[in-house]
Amino acid sequence: MPPHNHSHETILVLNFGTPYVQQVARQIRECHVYSRVVPHTMPPEKIKAIAPRGIVCVCDEISLDKHEAKISAIDKLDIPMLAVRGGHLDVSNTLPGFLKQCGCSFDWTMRDYADMMIRGIREQVGSGQVICGLSGGVDSAVVAALLAAAIGPQLTCIFVDSGLMRKGEQESVEHEFTKHFKIDLHIVREEKRFLGALAGVIDPQEKRKRIGHEFINAFSEAASRFKNARFLAQGTIYPDVIESGGDADAPAATIKLHHNVGGLPDDLEFELIEPLRDLFKDEVRQLGLELGLPESLVWRHPFPGPGLAVRCLGEVTVEKLDTIREADAILIEEIRNAGLYRSISQAFVVLLPVQSVGVSGNCRTYENAIAIRCINTGDFMTAEWSALPGDLLRRISTRIISEVPGINRVVYDISSKPPATIEWE
Ligand code: XMP
Repeated sequence: MPPHNHSHETILVLNFGTPYVQQVARQIRECHVYSRVVPHTMPPEKIKAIAPRGIVCVCDEISLDKHEAKISAIDKLDIPMLAVRGGHLDVSNTLPGFLKQCGCSFDWTMRDYADMMIRGIREQVGSGQVICGLSGGVDSAVVAALLAAAIGPQLTCIFVDSGLMRKGEQESVEHEFTKHFKIDLHIVREEKRFLGALAGVIDPQEKRKRIGHEFINAFSEAASRFKNARFLAQGTIYPDVIESGGDADAPAATIKLHHNVGGLPDDLEFELIEPLRDLFKDEVRQLGLELGLPESLVWRHPFPGPGLAVRCLGEVTVEKLDTIREADAILIEEIRNAGLYRSISQAFVVLLPVQSVGVSGNCRTYENAIAIRCINTGDFMTAEWSALPGDLLRRISTRIISEVPGINRVVYDISSKPPATIEWE
């Protein structure tokens, strides 16, 4: 995390060990006042040095008694303080009054966050070189755009092309970052390496493990070629920190094996830059727009780290991946043409490992099936299948069957999460 420069009015949110603390911080930012979360162990002198306009202490009911002494010590600092207690925290009624009492001017915007991060990154990096891994997703793109604005020529981006990406993904990353942002971008073509590691593997967890392993090795090898680079920038956002158990105060166990938090080996010896660690996804998107990233990239649906491998049930082969890429491109194009891309949280196709009988012209066919998965969700922990209009589904199905060789059947996934997950593997 680059050092925070506290030139703007700041509300410090003291974390007394509840995962909801970032939501309180976010509600403050929604009131156009800058807020950041710090541990409750921060010494009072340090708090005073930051000179916050106000302090919000967030703790749950259970640990309230334990922290009573510390909260009353903070209350004596002569800085307006609000104590928020309880598990489902909606402070939208109390906050505006408190922030007024703190003398806030309610004029903070994401532009201020960008400027603060840019100053912080410059301070942290000095004249050093920074490496940033681009994935094609929003988070790493926003980090790269921030770094480009902060230290331009000192930045090198690495994009590992695993061969598991969507159609045109690599080309669009290349276009955006070399033509628009003029970043020094190195594309490492590793399709053979990843497909080699996946040959014969059908177990979903084993696929993820092998992809994760190859990714770390491919990225480390590429990064080690830049001998002068001392810093590594990552697009870790707050939900990643929580899901990976990276927040010492959060209760969530490690849910995913595959995340970028702590995913790279220690012996890489880079100092980490993680400017999005405090932000939620929609805040990251706002920041991306502020930095001039195109809407098409900023509003891109999430894409899993293991890529199309988890949408290719059974063994992964280049032929199956090509089939998925073609069908997926049709699905996304039709959804965009219908003006529904932004209102759907995630849309993709899955290639099923089954064949079924069909008929084409006068001939019997025995070919594969594609499943379409479109979901709506707020937090990706639960999700509802999207009720797409019938005529859109019909168009998608007709196009996939007539344009994608080897597919004679299209089905629509109508399972909610839970009990189904969003991805099929
Ligand atoms: P599930 O399938 O667990 O997916 O309901 C929830 C969200 O997480 C994405 N996802 C992943 N993201 N690496 C990632 O970076 C992964 O291995 C992975 N698996 C699932 C999924 O696309 C959905 O947005």
